[in-house]
Amino acid sequence: MAKKELKIAYEIYSSVEDLSSEDRNLVRQAMKARESAYAPYSSFRVGAAVRLSDGRVFTASNQENSAYPSGMCAERVALYAAHAALNDAYIQDLAVVGGEGDTLSEEPVCACGACLQVLKEFESQQPVNVLYVGQREVLKIQGVRNLLPFAFTK
Ligand code: THU
Repeated sequence: MAKKELKIAYEIYSSVEDLSSEDRNLVRQAMKARESAYAPYSSFRVGAAVRLSDGRVFTASNQENSAYPSGMCAERVALYAAHAALNDAYIQDLAVVGGEGDTLSEEPVCACGACLQVLKEFESQQPVNVLYVGQREVLKIQGVRNLLPFAFTK
């Protein structure tokens, strides 16, 4: 038997204002996208923004359904749209914001496991830069390796 420990690396920013202008801009686009959330069942509204290596940005929000499991997370809506339009580009950044109703969450809102598995599938040329945003702090994590170290692969 062997024991091993994993270390994950991430950066903590005390506010969106402390991010680089590129990251800040992506977060703002995620915030804008959150306004289009359809969340009548949970009231938890999530916005996501994906930036490709060629600069194009795809934004999305969570879309719920009265048949609950048919709903979809904001991250996956954005990731699928971006990936379907990839051409020669690759996914470079993902920003996630969320909160109850109109209020942005105090703590950073993180992607669920299913969204991380999709991110794992789509991470290609370089680790995706992920931004989880809360009012209290913003987390910046480089790559699925630091987010879902035991992701499924065939
Ligand atoms: N949700 C997301 O949009 N992203 C996640 O990573 C987790 C949760 C949505 C799904 C549902 O509409 C609401 O948040 C409450 O779970």
